[in-house]
Amino acid sequence: MKPLRLAKPNLWVALLSMISFGFYSCSKKDITFSKNIAPIIYKNCTPCHSQNGGAPFTFLTYSDVAQRAKMIAFVTRTHYMPPWPADKNYTHFINEKTLNENEIQLIQDWFKNGKAPGDTTDLKPPVYNAKISVLGTPDLIIPVPPVQILNDNSDRFYIIKIPYQLKKPQYVKAVEFMAGQPNIVHHANGHLLLYDGHTNPFDGKRIIETNDPNFESEFDALKLLNANGNKPERVHSAFNYLPSSFGVKYPEGIGGFLLSVNGTFVANDIHYGPSRKQMMDSSKLYVYFANKKPERPTYEIMLGTNGIAPIVPPLQIQPNTISKHTTEITIYNDISILTINPHMHLIGTQFKAYALKPNGDTIRLISIPKWQFRWQYFYTFTNPIKIPKGSIIRVESEFDNTKNNPNNPFTPPRLIGERNDHGGASMRTTDEMLQFIITYMPYQKGDEKIELNKN
Ligand code: HEC
Repeated sequence: MKPLRLAKPNLWVALLSMISFGFYSCSKKDITFSKNIAPIIYKNCTPCHSQNGGAPFTFLTYSDVAQRAKMIAFVTRTHYMPPWPADKNYTHFINEKTLNENEIQLIQDWFKNGKAPGDTTDLKPPVYNAKISVLGTPDLIIPVPPVQILNDNSDRFYIIKIPYQLKKPQYVKAVEFMAGQPNIVHHANGHLLLYDGHTNPFDGKRIIETNDPNFESEFDALKLLNANGNKPERVHSAFNYLPSSFGVKYPEGIGGFLLSVNGTFVANDIHYGPSRKQMMDSSKLYVYFANKKPERPTYEIMLGTNGIAPIVPPLQIQPNTISKHTTEITIYNDISILTINPHMHLIGTQFKAYALKPNGDTIRLISIPKWQFRWQYFYTFTNPIKIPKGSIIRVESEFDNTKNNPNNPFTPPRLIGERNDHGGASMRTTDEMLQFIITYMPYQKGDEKIELNKN
């Protein structure tokens, strides 16, 4: 009798586990592309994996995704895609693209269980196209002088003068750089020079090819001075374009500047990636007007390389060392931070920025535990972050100049640092930079409640 009694509960356990296993595997088999996978892909992958989106293939239809399912399972499991180097457990930003563990598991299970399509008749792939601005129809389009792309598979850097002339001065809300060849144009940062009424912005060279992009040394060739020899007024970072970045327009009244009648944008270091095909790039600046003067103008603070706060210790990284560097600044008025841009080059490994309030509390800004040179964004907070006066904003960084760092451009390792022989640092990828750009506005009560993605 005894053995039987024992056998009974065992049988039940076996039966129960068969049933539950049955349910379990059945629910995994129920995972379909249409119901479970498409919403994840369309939200987090298709913005880049679409026509002209900068990624090598599109994820629009079932078959687009199914034929690469194995690779998709791999790149999501290893957190290689979607590329979002900022730690989402530290702080959040608009346009954040990350998958949670559940979503990653769903993709794995869907792949392992045969990639069921489900009912694909109702699928509506979202329309993304890097040639159509997320900001809508521009009020003015300024052509960027066309650049001939060669088929020799090499990187190239240019400084490009982008002049314009208007009938009357005009307030502007946002400027977006629209790459003509989004698969080749890697990045572009642009400043704006505002001329007095007598200067012809169309004088001078338009395009300079250089390995050391720094327009400060090209004022003569580009004829960037006012006709009377004075330096024109400037708007820094009038536009920024990064791989697969999307335009950001702050809510009405925040940010923007006045375009004078004569002026020029200068793309200071526009980087073209390697190409095997010869073609022309005709990029454009899309300009969005504002009806009136911005109520809340925005300003920029730049820490580190070329900025107002030094790097400690100076950024000279000895071969075969891992070294840590900081840069910090005290804030003397209450400010609201809108957007931040961390920047390092190849051997950077970690980046963290935060504010220390006078009472010792910390305000988190961003943590990038595994720096990836390939993915650099202008991160805009979901709501402005108030930094009270007397706070210190501090950046902590780490660089790995050993042979164990697969991103080290030199074997054996060499001294890598900022090169200061032009009175500024080199933009060359194989030199290093540590920079943190903060876009802010003076604080006003209620700023914390502004939703920066609503405009
Ligand atoms: C911010 C733009 C962007 C997003 C979002 C994005 N990708 Fe990518 N993806 C790229 C680019 C660009 C490449 C080409 C590789 C490179 O340039 O580093 C790429 C490459 C890939 C590759 C090929 C990897 C290889 O080793 O060749 C796969 C697979 C992939 N992505 C899947 C995904 C999936 C799945 C998602 C969403 C979960 C996603 N991507 C989201 C831009 C993006």
